Amino acid sequence: MMNQQQKTRWVNCRTAIAFVFLCLALCVTGTVYAQSTSKSTAQFDVGAVWNDVDGNVINAHGGNIIYEKGTYYWFGEKRGRRHSEGVNVYESRDLYHWKLKALALAQSTDTTSEIAEGCIMERPKVVYNKKTGKYVMWFHLELRGKGYASARAAVAISDHITGPYRYLHSFRPNGNMSRDMTLFVDRDGKAYEIYSSRENYDLRIAELTPDFLNVTKKDSMLFSNHREAPAIFWYKGKYYLITSGCTGWAPNAASLRVADHIYGPWKLLSNPMLGSGSEKTFGGQPTFILPLGKNKFIYVGDKWNPKDLTDSRYHFLPIELDADGDGIKISWRDSWRLSDLK
Ligand code: GAL
Repeated sequence: MMNQQQKTRWVNCRTAIAFVFLCLALCVTGTVYAQSTSKSTAQFDVGAVWNDVDGNVINAHGGNIIYEKGTYYWFGEKRGRRHSEGVNVYESRDLYHWKLKALALAQSTDTTSEIAEGCIMERPKVVYNKKTGKYVMWFHLELRGKGYASARAAVAISDHITGPYRYLHSFRPNGNMSRDMTLFVDRDGKAYEIYSSRENYDLRIAELTPDFLNVTKKDSMLFSNHREAPAIFWYKGKYYLITSGCTGWAPNAASLRVADHIYGPWKLLSNPMLGSGSEKTFGGQPTFILPLGKNKFIYVGDKWNPKDLTDSRYHFLPIELDADGDGIKISWRDSWRLSDLK
């Protein structure tokens, strides 16, 4: 039997233990909550780790974003530390909060497939074909075990925006090597592949067939200046094209070109990046330009981490359109909101 003093000590001891447990529980839930809501502040913390709404790091590199019925869909390379693992798709209604919807295109366990596990799938771009009602995905494909020697464009198709996408085929467009690439659907509904060719020395353009599943013979050189990572948009009667130099995962200076016609001539303007870090694109590389309506655009880039590609970060930055006479400009922001887009 405990005496009164012992009882009091026991009660105090139990209270202290309960208090310690309560503190631990608060710390743990606090950490989890902070992780899963690190992007819940409705702003872009550029280059920080971005979690999806389930608290996992967003894994969608080198991709594009398309908009349909109030929802944005973000397609991008799913990366393991060193390997390519297919194409992820996320959805969001506000561009800040993203939910992983699916592995839109998986690699195949069939070792004879062109997209067998171990292949490299890069820079996926998805567009909608109004004529066929299908979603079409193009990406840069390197066949398994061949490094970057294959240099092929690959195509997959789906009835549903989030997939699953069915792999169709890969090829070198009109016999040309095709590495870094993007797709662009023009106002008249014609679509184009813009791609780095001839060991990345040439940047080429090929018009796609009406179903967007292949290239036509309308394939020509835009310029030969050893450029890659093309990102294009149209604004007030002109096409703008941002590209990077060719230094692999390492950042370099971007350049901006402008043209009245998509086939060119493309006039070289200056580096569109402004301020500290601009000579190395703030440590990143262009991947895509997201139009918001007619007059607002977001530059999307990747800050690669080749030692652990899953830790590559995202550069979403506002495009400044009022730059006098020298095209558009992009300045670094640690954080910004859509309301900052002018
Ligand atoms: C970059 C390219 C990336 C990836 C990388 C591999 O130049 O833009 O998409 O291919 O090289 O080194």
